[in-house]
Amino acid sequence: MKALLKKVVETFGPSGREDAIRQLLLDEIKPYVDRTFIDNMGNLHAVKEGKGARVMVAAHMDEIGFVVTHIDEKGFLRISPVGGVAPVRCLYQRVLLENGARGVVGVESVKNPNDIDFSKLYVDIGARDEKEARKLAQEGLFGAFLNEMTEMNGLITAKSLDDRVGCVIAVEAARQLKKSPNEIHFVFTVQEEVGLRGAIAAAYNIEPDLGIALDVTGTGDTPDAPKMPMKLREGVAVKIKDNSLLVPRRVKDFFMRVAEKNKITYQPEILTFGGTDAGAINLSRSGVLAGCLSIPTRYIHSVSETASLSDIEEAIKLLVKILESDVKKELED
Ligand code: CO
Ligand code: ZN
Repeated sequence: MKALLKKVVETFGPSGREDAIRQLLLDEIKPYVDRTFIDNMGNLHAVKEGKGARVMVAAHMDEIGFVVTHIDEKGFLRISPVGGVAPVRCLYQRVLLENGARGVVGVESVKNPNDIDFSKLYVDIGARDEKEARKLAQEGLFGAFLNEMTEMNGLITAKSLDDRVGCVIAVEAARQLKKSPNEIHFVFTVQEEVGLRGAIAAAYNIEPDLGIALDVTGTGDTPDAPKMPMKLREGVAVKIKDNSLLVPRRVKDFFMRVAEKNKITYQPEILTFGGTDAGAINLSRSGVLAGCLSIPTRYIHSVSETASLSDIEEAIKLLVKILESDVKKELED
């Protein structure tokens, strides 16, 4: 699992440019499902046939990034964020453009660090002047951050754990799944970071009986963190609410029941901000039951997102057990 996670987090794929990560995930999940297809949005669907409930498992494969808006007269690229990118978190980070060009993010001199916004940032691609820069890069190219995955005392640190960790949990669950009565659609969605766009279209297409998003969630376990119950190493988080979804009681009860029955360590997730693909699935067509399994993660939307391997393992176990149960019966009112 760790080796796969390293490969997956280090692959390029900002929203709208998910080609490379989609190909990697297709190769990884294909042996474990009955059929795969890519829809018009670019979502990757991997389906395990079954006669029971239709379950959509969504993990977004896009990551936050940026787009080149113009190239200045000195040969520096100016950029605009794609997804929720905080300007200060970009400082001096290494970046990769979709054409393979590399760069580092610099900043104009500012009196007050609070004045740092995207108009003050630039990407240095090593060009001598504008002419040389235009050979290396062009306006409209998408880019993403670079960072290697590292490990510290059972925790992993990487870029794009949001939400490549969800992608890996989906692949691992597909691999470990033995017998399931359900028709399971693993969907690796596009463009979550710009507004859950891939999931909206995928959910409409699938018309599931239950949607399960896999994603990261914030924690309250660092100095002066917001007051939230989620902690690293306390198990998979079962979402109760965020700003996109109030999880129906019978969905969260079902997930917690399965966790307890199988002695899987879990914690409740109450998030006062943010949203996931589960919110989009919930609002699809005439409404769909939806919930979310989350990985507590520190430093979300930075190049050093940090999570616990043990929590990831618990999430895989819980997802497998949920998918192996008779979902139709479990969700009866
Ligand atoms: Co995100
Ligand atoms: Zn996410």
